[in-house]
Amino acid sequence: MPNARGATVEFRDVTKQYADQVAVDGLSFTVPAGKICILVGPSGSGKTTSLKMVNRLIEPTSGAILIDGTDVLQEDPVQLRRRIGYVIQQVGLFPHQTIEENVGTVPRLLGWPKDRIRSRSIELLALVGLDPKRYAARYPAQLSGGERQRAGVARALAADPPVMLMDEPFGAVDPIVRDRLQAELLRIQRDQGTTVLFVTHDIDEAIRLGDRIAIMKDGKLVQYAPPGELLAHPANEFVAQFVGSDRGLKRLGLLTAGGADLDSGIERAGVDPRAPELKASTTLRDALALMLERGVQQAPVVDDNDGRYLGVLTLAKISKMLGSQA
Ligand SMILES: Nc1ncnc2c1ncn2[C@@H]1O[C@H](COP(=O)(O)OP(=O)(O)OP(=O)(O)O)[C@@H](O)[C@H]1O
Ligand SMILES: [Mg+2]
Repeated sequence: MPNARGATVEFRDVTKQYADQVAVDGLSFTVPAGKICILVGPSGSGKTTSLKMVNRLIEPTSGAILIDGTDVLQEDPVQLRRRIGYVIQQVGLFPHQTIEENVGTVPRLLGWPKDRIRSRSIELLALVGLDPKRYAARYPAQLSGGERQRAGVARALAADPPVMLMDEPFGAVDPIVRDRLQAELLRIQRDQGTTVLFVTHDIDEAIRLGDRIAIMKDGKLVQYAPPGELLAHPANEFVAQFVGSDRGLKRLGLLTAGGADLDSGIERAGVDPRAPELKASTTLRDALALMLERGVQQAPVVDDNDGRYLGVLTLAKISKMLGSQA
């Protein structure tokens, strides 16, 4: 059952000024509790700096960051960090501790009883797809890169943090493992209701994972919007370029046949018999591919659960959605 354990994270006019450089410049946005916010932008745009100010690894020059309304600067940094999961690109597992000991780090610091730490570690290893029987007693050097990433995620989740900070956590793994880790993160996050701030260079990853995407440039926030809105209405040329010239197709990947404006005036029996039957949950991108492959102009859409006929999706409707945001 999903719960509301996540906390709201608010950046209020946050600036980080170094001697010769503004790393973050007047950043303001709010991540609602239990949502995933993705920070994207070119190298040097201030993503890591923004993340590290949340758990006070870096202190802002001005402005405030509030977690559930409390300024992080008012909290003891050590206590604060125990409440915030943190995954960095190189994972940073402790090499001389087993995977189980690594995962139990924060619960140990919090003084949990031994058997509770143990059961929590086992539970989390299973959750991220590392069979505890095989992996708990191993050392980090005995894991693949992708397995280490997962152990890092398990460790960050151990004490049920209301907020997780993830800095390019899946940067170093191959596309197949990355795909699996993304799916696992989404499942875990929905399950635990954690608020996640996630940095990536990969716009496709941002679109897949994000409830909101924050696009940064030169320390400033250029646009903050849900993925669909970003693809449909990029705020300026920089965002349009960043999300890519195929943003129309990407946007179709976020929309479903069931959510489209279906033509319900056509009887099921009247639909082109060569047309593929589409489930309502099929993305418009997949629907388009199937229809082009079969060379049909229309396809019937049915309910995922009971197979009830919902209406006809036409190529014209799909192209209209593609064209509506050119
Ligand atoms: N300690 C520091 N002193 C001076 N400048 C710094 C310091 N740390 C970071 N910067 C500068 O602040 C800017 C933002 O850095 P940051 O690490 O937040 O970028 P980033 O968006 O995470 O980039 P990347 O995608 O390459 O990881 C960069 O131009 C960087 O050179
Ligand atoms: Mg960085």
